[in-house]
Parts: sequence; C-alpha cells; structure tokens
Amino acid sequence: MQSCRQFVVQLIRSVALLAIFSATAAQAVEKRNLIIDTDPGADDVVALLLALASPEELNVMAITTVAGNVRIDKTSRNARLAREWAGREEVPVYAGAGRPLVRTPIYAENIHGKEGLPGVEVHEPKKGLAEGNAVQYLVDTLKKAAPHSITIAMLGPQTNLALALVQAPEITQGIKEVVVMGGAHFNGGNITPVAEFNLYADPDAAKVVLASGVKLTYVPLDVTHKILTSEQRLRQIEALNNQAGKLVGNILNEYVKADMVHYGLPGGPVHDASVIAWLLKPELFTGKQINLVIDSREGPGFGQTVADWYDTLGQNKNVFWVENGDAQGFFDLLTQRLARLK
Ligand code: RIB
Ligand code: CA
Repeated sequence: MQSCRQFVVQLIRSVALLAIFSATAAQAVEKRNLIIDTDPGADDVVALLLALASPEELNVMAITTVAGNVRIDKTSRNARLAREWAGREEVPVYAGAGRPLVRTPIYAENIHGKEGLPGVEVHEPKKGLAEGNAVQYLVDTLKKAAPHSITIAMLGPQTNLALALVQAPEITQGIKEVVVMGGAHFNGGNITPVAEFNLYADPDAAKVVLASGVKLTYVPLDVTHKILTSEQRLRQIEALNNQAGKLVGNILNEYVKADMVHYGLPGGPVHDASVIAWLLKPELFTGKQINLVIDSREGPGFGQTVADWYDTLGQNKNVFWVENGDAQGFFDLLTQRLARLK
C-alpha cells in the first residue's frame, strides 16, 4: 500500500514533468512572420480563418491577393471577408496581379461559384484594401526585412511573388521559406490529367519562384487528397455553434461536391488549409526533399510538376515535397482553432 509520503512525492514528480513538457512544447512553437498570398476561393478562406485564429504561432503581416479561382476584384473582396469573419481587420489586404505572367487567364468558377465563395452569402466588407499593389508590398517588405525572417504561404497562382522576384531579385534575402499549395505527382492533376490548378494557371510564375533558390515546400494534391472531409468531420466543425463553424461547414459542404463526384470520393480536400496546418503542426505531415521541374511547354504536360520522388535523375533536390498527412489530426486542429473565433 503506497504511503501518503510516497503519494505526495509521486504527485510532485508528475507535476514537475508536466511543467517541463508544457514548457518544451511551448518552446517548440516558434512564432513566424507570415504573408499569405491567395486567390479566395473556398479553401483559401478556410486557410485564412485557420491562420488568423492562430496568432500565437503566426504573425500574419498581410494578405496579398491574386486572380485565380475568380477574378482579382472578387478574390480581394473574399480575402477582406475572411479577415472580417476572423475579427482581424488590422491585417492589411493588398490586391495584386489580375492575370498570369504569360498564358491566357483561367478561372475556377465552376468549382468556387460566380462569387468565388460557395455555400454562403457574401457582402461588401466594411474595411477596404490597403493602399498600393501587392507586388510592390512584397518588394518593399522583403527588401527591408531581417535576413530570412518572413514565410510566404502561396495558396493560388504564384504570379505576385514571381513579379516581385523579377522586379527585385534581392528580395530573397528577406524570405525564410515559401510554402506552396500546388502541384501533383502520385495523385495526378485536377485541371488536366497531370496538372494541378495553381500550377496550370501560371506555370511561368512557378518557374520563376523555383529558380529563385528560396527554401521551397510544396503541399500538392498527393497529400491534400488524403485529407478529406467526412460527415463526421463536418459535423464536428458545425457543432462549434459559432459563426466560423457555420461558415466553414456551409462552405465545405458546397465546395467538396465537385471533387467527390469527379473522383468518386467519400469527401473532398481542403487544399489551402493544409498549408497553414503544415505551418502550425508539421508533425501531422511527412514528405521528403526531391528534385522538382515544372513544365510550361504548350501541350498535354502544360503546368505539370515533374517530381523526382525516387531520385531517378540524381538532380539537385530543390523542393520539400509533402506526400502524406494525418487527416483526423488536421480536422481536429482546424476545429480547435475555429472554436476561438466568433
Ligand atoms: O488545386 C487546388 C488549388 O487551386 C487551391 O488553391 C484552390 O483554391 C485553387 O486555387
Ligand atoms: Ca487557392
């Protein structure tokens, strides 16, 4: 029978261990300066809400918008809506490129709806855009930033960052890393049999970013198609009984329908939010450093990401390619953070 003294000693030991563990866990989360470049877009809005609900880990310096899912006026309006819904109107939204570098523009209204935001009513948000263009904001901010201090999450076509890099290649000095939602290898494409939408919408921009030599992580369809909604996962979000849970539940219910039909899946991916989850809890994901080449030639391979997963060519490993993820862990994180919002 344990004596009372032994019990007290054991209790003190457990409390001390808990204190050490929680201190270590807190140390493990290094706060990031983050710029989110995005084409909202249903899954972009979910990503923005997740990021803006996580101020301990992410200092969202600005949101920069680009044409992609819908035209620039609507992606910029939707970014301002997400900011309003997150209660974070201090974060500036800069509008950027209205078209790709070279190719004729394409959009995805068939997936994201005419307003670029399915399943919910949109309105004109109170707070407007920041003065100035997103590209100039990137140039000015990254030029004067502390060395390698700013992370950029790219959730749409990479046009803005490409334009900034062409205008001022030295801005790489301010970039810690770029995390891209885009590309596909094992999964195959979603806009052609081989190409993913963000890359297909502006492969030339993606090549400029790749060639810049910045630290680059890709979160491709290979992993986003393994992190799927389900009835239970959507119910856990809607059960939050707050505006954020209702909005995300309604958006995702509508957004995933097309993918579920097209792929015959029991649920749909939340592509862009997977990038933010990677930044918040990288331990939910696995991948490896590989060589990536982007095809921008006219033809069936246009926009394809040629990912040398087995190092067949022995070329420079220029990208970290995320290939798998913990789906339930992702939805638990998303639910837990949305619970913080109104
Ligand atoms: O292919 C999926 C990507 O294209 C996502 O970023 C989605 O928002 C669209 O931009
Ligand atoms: Ca997007």
